[in-house]
Amino acid sequence: MDGEKECVVIVDYGSQYTQLIARRVREKHVFSRIVPCGAPISAVSCGNLRGVILSGGPNSVFAEGAPGVDQAVFKLGVPVLGICYGMQLMGQALGGSVEPGTAREYGSTQVDVSDSDGLFDGLPKSMTVWMSHGDRVSEIPPGFKAVASSSNCRVVAMCDAERRLYAIQFHPEVAHTQYGGEMLSNFLFKICRCKGDWQLSSWIDQTVRALKDRIGNDEVLLGLSGGVDSSVVAALLGRAIGPRLHCIFVDNGLLRWREADEIRAMFGGRFNLDLHVVSAAGRFYKALAGVTEPEAKRKAVGREFIEVFAEEARKFGSCRFLAQGTIYPDVVESSSAAGAVSHTIKSHHNVGGLPADLKFELVEPLRDLFKDEVRIVGRALGLDAEFIERQPFPGPGLSVRILGEVTAEKVRLLQQADVRVQEEIRKLPGCRSIWQSFAVLLPVRTVGVMGDCRTYEHVCAIRCVDSQDAMTADWTRLPYETLAEISRRITNEVRGINRVVYDITSKPPSTIEWE
Ligand code: XMP
Repeated sequence: MDGEKECVVIVDYGSQYTQLIARRVREKHVFSRIVPCGAPISAVSCGNLRGVILSGGPNSVFAEGAPGVDQAVFKLGVPVLGICYGMQLMGQALGGSVEPGTAREYGSTQVDVSDSDGLFDGLPKSMTVWMSHGDRVSEIPPGFKAVASSSNCRVVAMCDAERRLYAIQFHPEVAHTQYGGEMLSNFLFKICRCKGDWQLSSWIDQTVRALKDRIGNDEVLLGLSGGVDSSVVAALLGRAIGPRLHCIFVDNGLLRWREADEIRAMFGGRFNLDLHVVSAAGRFYKALAGVTEPEAKRKAVGREFIEVFAEEARKFGSCRFLAQGTIYPDVVESSSAAGAVSHTIKSHHNVGGLPADLKFELVEPLRDLFKDEVRIVGRALGLDAEFIERQPFPGPGLSVRILGEVTAEKVRLLQQADVRVQEEIRKLPGCRSIWQSFAVLLPVRTVGVMGDCRTYEHVCAIRCVDSQDAMTADWTRLPYETLAEISRRITNEVRGINRVVYDITSKPPSTIEWE
């Protein structure tokens, strides 16, 4: 689906910032692709290539087996920008020298620019940038000139304007680098001469057209999970092929309060697709009976899902295609650093393990998009903003928020408690910045007193965290008034819970979910 749109390729040397570079480029309306280092040059040069960026990486060029650069990249006839490790590779490959740094440089550094052409066009002569390196270019390659320095590093930036090769030791993609966005703009628009005409709205039109062409008069099956990715796929395919898209939504009885109704309301009417809600709660509770170990619960839910989905899918034997909500980070994360771009099915979409008799061709229309781009597309396609911004929810659902054995009664209790947490959190002005907030049902009962009577009931924990990416998280400092109201409402309104506690652990050492 690349068409002839202009594209900048980022060769990934394993930097934690590679995806950020790709995002920064796309934010400037230039389409970007990440290619693992070691991939053949044909993987870099395809399409309407306008420039190449060599990313940073954790290696030292002196380390045994350190990834190198194919000289052919400098002869593609497009500008190349080396960042950090990418700069050292460029220096070494083109006849300069790299030396191991005696003093490492991490964090903010002041640099002085001696030549304001190229990347530094229109920028001040002195600026603060973000460094993270040990090795450095000690001797620039023939034809290059050094254009910036720091007190620690003689060559912070170098270029050969004639061959349009540029390199910087620091990271322009991170927010801490002053004028980093301007440098990337200079590279994209002044050096690569990109037009910057890549728009998500035109992406939608192009993708819908391409889906129509590919699918023709055939039919498509989609496992709709209710998450953002599969919902956006449903809306997109709904626009392309309407009721020839058959969506299977499995109500496993482990969903949030009224979630199945919301899905019915959203997709059953408005999107002109064929929605099948499979009410399978009983089967899931049976599979979970007596299971208390967290991993065993996840496996039981996963197995049951595959079985239910496969049974339903057999009813749609005439479908040629199976649609998946795979997004770009899934594709990139599943590409090995050695360069073999593998094609994996997103495992938490749960349809990866379908039985062999079910043979579908995959349709993955979101493979090129980042999560926030998927959200923008979803909104443009008419999905409600509130739905699109929903908090992450684990595949095994409430089963991993009910500690101990899962029963229908405990699910009902937890849903009742959880909906009250959501209602109170939503009243907070900054609620959108909260990553996740939910209730957890604990497998202990405690003594309480209500209306002069002794009670002996469940304890409910509240988990509320701030996070950027779920890799690390800190517990949210909720106002005492909010905590008090959550506790008051749950103990008064939910029969069966007489105590509420607040989880004050970060991740690590805890995880966000309790199981
Ligand atoms: P943890 O608990 O590992 O969770 O800190 C990190 C993030 O992942 C979500 N999560 C899951 N998502 N299937 C999913 O699709 C799962 O099995 C699963 N387990 C945890 C969790 O809600 C948090 O956002």
